[in-house]
Amino acid sequence: MAYSEASVVIGGLAHVPVLIGAFWLFQNWRSGLVNDISLREPPKAAEPTPQPSSSIAPPEATRKSRHKDVPVNLYKPRSPFIGSVLDNYSLLQEGAIGRVNHITFDISGGDPEFNYVEGQSIGIIPAGEDANGKPHKIRLYSIASTRHGDNFEGNTVSLCVRQLQYEKDGETVDGVCSTYLCDINPGDKIKITGPVGKEMLLPEDEDANVIMLATGTGIAPMRAYLRRMFEQAEIQKNGWNFKGKAWLFMGAPKTANLLYDDDFERYKSEFPDNFLYTKAISREQTNAKGGRMYIQDRVLENASEIFEMIENNKTHIYLCGLKGMEPGIDEAMTQAAAEKGMNWSELRPQLKKAGRWHVETY
Ligand code: FAD
Ligand code: A2P
Repeated sequence: MAYSEASVVIGGLAHVPVLIGAFWLFQNWRSGLVNDISLREPPKAAEPTPQPSSSIAPPEATRKSRHKDVPVNLYKPRSPFIGSVLDNYSLLQEGAIGRVNHITFDISGGDPEFNYVEGQSIGIIPAGEDANGKPHKIRLYSIASTRHGDNFEGNTVSLCVRQLQYEKDGETVDGVCSTYLCDINPGDKIKITGPVGKEMLLPEDEDANVIMLATGTGIAPMRAYLRRMFEQAEIQKNGWNFKGKAWLFMGAPKTANLLYDDDFERYKSEFPDNFLYTKAISREQTNAKGGRMYIQDRVLENASEIFEMIENNKTHIYLCGLKGMEPGIDEAMTQAAAEKGMNWSELRPQLKKAGRWHVETY
């Protein structure tokens, strides 16, 4: 499984920042700077030096120093955290295609404590053995909850999982881990690794703008961001007063497949100045060419406003979900940029370097 192998490599590489982090902590502990390294709600970093709005200058140093407290690989595949399942329910409405579940685990009582922040992923080791009698490899899943969890108590983590199913030689094959997760029951024990990933972290700036492009379960990290921004109990917990504009583009095959739609509609009515929600329902709507409506078609429809936002260096763009959407998004951004007299192939690397273009596709 390519991703599992990749994740193990990522896990190995993650030792380097851990060692650097340990050295940093030791130095600061000696100098009396560190007495509380709780990661529940890290203190806000100092405001970055304002950049001229026309530049895409990389706030590189500021960004790296902000991310130094983000936990990685607290639990590794050889000694995973043993959590227990609290909840597992379908996110789909009647008539939807496939199976997508919201699953919550109790992660309390770990030593070290299992911490994470919005935008990270965890690894799951499915029970049982593979065809060679070896334990299954880990699969990564984006975390769908905020660091405070769905119950705001800081001791749970939630996932949004689609069961993988495909046809091979006339038979339906069920994905190992996604089926294990969709079938798991409250009370069951589960092996969890991580957390991993710093690619999809939210900016700390309360004035940041956040454009989100999600297909299917790619909504998972976005759900965490949006709860952090707009869910009242979560706001009270995090003390983060989001004042920017958040714009979610969500792709689903049918209306019945839209994920967390009621919550997002509620945020839209409660925060009309701060939240925009645009849906692309591929099998119910058609694009300008008469084909399936994808999020890249919605990007094109809103090109002018999107690029006005991108010109502001406080705007971050997040892409999550199907790997196949990347070329389509690139094509749409190329066309949209050209309409504003910009060159996307030059702009995208600049945004990436500035830590404003965040991609996690699978
Ligand atoms: P497996 O049993 O491992 O089967 C997958 C394998 O089946 C593939 O490697 C391929 O060899 C084969 N296969 C797949 N499709 C076909 C096909 N059509 N024809 C022939 N062969 C095929 N998933 C989520 O549901 N939610 C998430 O939030 C999520 N987040 C992720 C975040 C990251 C960073 C990454 C890397 C992946 C994420 N995934 C997520 C995907 C997840 O890790 C698993 O890959 C997915 O659940 C499938 O695992 P599985 O064990 O069920 O499938
Ligand atoms: P479709 O399957 O109709 O072609 P889910 O994971 O729930 O199936 O949702 C994924 C959504 O992303 C679907 O609406 C799917 O459309 C859509 N999609 C599929 N391929 C692409 C692509 N290349 N670019 C953008 N969206 C895509």
